[in-house]
Amino acid sequence: MELLVTRKLPGGALERLARECSLDVWGQDSAMPREEIIRRIKGKDGLLCLLGDTVDAAVMDAAGCLGIIANYAVGYDNIDINAAKARGIVVTNTPGVLTDATADLAWALIFAVRRRIVEAHAFLRLNAWQGWDPNQMLGHDITGATLGIIGAGRIGTAVALRSRGFSMPVLYTDGAPNALIEAELGARRVEVEALLASADIVSLHVPLTPETRHLIGRRELDLMKPTAVLVNTARGAVIDEEALVEALQKRRIAGAGLDVYENEPRVHPLLKGLSNVVILPHIGSATHATWAKMADMAADNILAFLHGEEPPNRVA
Ligand code: DGY
Repeated sequence: MELLVTRKLPGGALERLARECSLDVWGQDSAMPREEIIRRIKGKDGLLCLLGDTVDAAVMDAAGCLGIIANYAVGYDNIDINAAKARGIVVTNTPGVLTDATADLAWALIFAVRRRIVEAHAFLRLNAWQGWDPNQMLGHDITGATLGIIGAGRIGTAVALRSRGFSMPVLYTDGAPNALIEAELGARRVEVEALLASADIVSLHVPLTPETRHLIGRRELDLMKPTAVLVNTARGAVIDEEALVEALQKRRIAGAGLDVYENEPRVHPLLKGLSNVVILPHIGSATHATWAKMADMAADNILAFLHGEEPPNRVA
């Protein structure tokens, strides 16, 4: 099997693949340019790619005989699934192994934004602290605040369950009731408008689809409390970034914690200058153990395909 791998991956997954496949690995520490992908995919049977690689019909057709696209991510909005299906190409992802790391990071953002951790850290480093001041760096409580989870799948559920210990009422939106968080936390499933109007913390956990693109726009931001914060560890385009910048500038909401952006790796330039936002470079799942597990999972999917078995994490 001839396999194109668009980046070196952590752990031993590539060594495992190399025992059974011929690998063509992009060796640089930057994204593989699209022209390079199109050039080097010719004649390949498999593609192991990243969430930043756009895998559309042009890429698939350039390969000629592509059998499998193994995405090194749980989200697969970078892949044209219909084009893959039309060409009989198998598509796989890496669900589950990154749930805890991503949920942990969502909480890191919740704490950072609600308690102004990053701003306070910078303030001290700039030697601006003149002593304890009852008017300084006032944030918003976490204990007792209402947590709103938009999308109660694996990661949304894990974020909700982490609220145990903080006495938080939990609201959620999802296509179906989530028996676990309802039983464990007394969480209530509501419409998105009701959640936005009541939650102090709104955390996004939906995949990016045509239906969820710009799910949070001007209208939705206007529904939020002026003291509420928005956290996004899902996909950037779930939020209309222009509308968010305006809401943050005008303090229509208190703050935002973002790990993902509409046009990665570009971050809206105005976001970088706002003190009420914490921005991270898409590191939700970035732990040594998680990224090695994701690489193993992608390799398992490819090897199953190679052996004529059903890949364990097939999405198309
Ligand atoms: C994913 O897997 O979709 C995350 O965004 C990165 O781990």
